[in-house]
Amino acid sequence: MTAITNHAWTLASRPEGAFKPSDFQWTEAPVPDLADGQVLVRHVYLSLDPASRGWAGETPTYMPSIPLGSVMRGFGLGVVDASRDPALRPGDLVQGLLGWQTYAVVDGHTLGRVVRDPALPLDAYLSVVSHIGATAYFGLLEVGALAAGETLLVSGAAGAVGSLVGQIGKIMGCRVVGVAGSAEKCAWLTELGFDATINYKKEPVLSRVRRLCPNGIDVHFENVGGAILDAALAFINTRARVVLCGLISQYNEALPPPGPRFIGNVLTRRARIEGFIVTDYQRRFAEAFVPLTDWLKAGRLRYRTDMVDGLEHAPVAVNRLFDGANTGKLMVRVSDDARLP
Ligand SMILES: NC(=O)c1ccc[n+]([C@@H]2O[C@H](COP(=O)([O-])OP(=O)(O)OC[C@H]3O[C@@H](n4cnc5c(N)ncnc54)[C@H](OP(=O)(O)O)[C@@H]3O)[C@@H](O)[C@H]2O)c1
Repeated sequence: MTAITNHAWTLASRPEGAFKPSDFQWTEAPVPDLADGQVLVRHVYLSLDPASRGWAGETPTYMPSIPLGSVMRGFGLGVVDASRDPALRPGDLVQGLLGWQTYAVVDGHTLGRVVRDPALPLDAYLSVVSHIGATAYFGLLEVGALAAGETLLVSGAAGAVGSLVGQIGKIMGCRVVGVAGSAEKCAWLTELGFDATINYKKEPVLSRVRRLCPNGIDVHFENVGGAILDAALAFINTRARVVLCGLISQYNEALPPPGPRFIGNVLTRRARIEGFIVTDYQRRFAEAFVPLTDWLKAGRLRYRTDMVDGLEHAPVAVNRLFDGANTGKLMVRVSDDARLP
């Protein structure tokens, strides 16, 4: 194999508050030889995810902390360049933990091979037919057990996961109310078919939830936490399900805020709050990918991709997730997406 140079961002220090560029170091090194079972992947799109803030911290989350000096962890979409895994061939499109780097050497069995539908653009395989769509699908339908006719409240509603959650709620025949951080984001949710929206930066969330969910909330899909979770718990129905997908409002905080005020309603209304992590569903992703693909092709699901050009921008771009600057699924174009098999 001709020598290939890998460029990578390694984690240089544990972030305090928001990520700083100095928390990362740009490195370059030759790509190592492959061992049995390994593949070399050319990274095409890197997904920037809120979870990266937790992974970079000192305290392990559902994955170990990223060791200082090692490549920053990240999901991505790439093309197999060389393979010593009989199940994968050069030219195959794959998803998996490729890291913040231009080339990844990974165990082939950790990757998902993408069977691409020619009708879908490539970015759909990170924005929707990916860990993002699987989060929305399994979180809402399995953990949330959403049923037709119910009322669904979703926070972070204009984000990658939230926008899919709300649209699947509409496909399921539910009343869907979305909470997002700008008038532009709320207008987009209305275009997507949400029944009502709340701009939490401009409107009093508690009284708006009361007004917009007159029959109470059956499923609350939580991406944010804090005051929005508080407002949701205030209006949950008997046997409501609160799907704890994310708590982005507290990822940059050293200490979490005091607990939700209306937790007593979980008791009296026999509600359930359940956290989940999408990687637990890895083996079942295909179950979600079939309907997600069909809905995309039928125009029943829409999405936006917020594309950043060039891996060098990742350390600054990742903070768009935390200040709300991202419109849609935030990702980085790491290499030429026109140069595909
Ligand atoms: N459990 C799992 O397996 C799993 C998997 C994937 C993602 N997640 C979680 O899902 C959530 C959404 O992730 P995503 O990838 O789809 O990102 P995203 O929603 O596309 O982007 C993050 C959004 O969060 C909102 N936000 C940031 N800080 C906030 C704050 N302090 N208060 C309120 N809203 C805030 C911003 O939107 P506004 O402009 O509306 O503020 C921002 O655009 C995150 O909590 C993430 O950790 C969980």
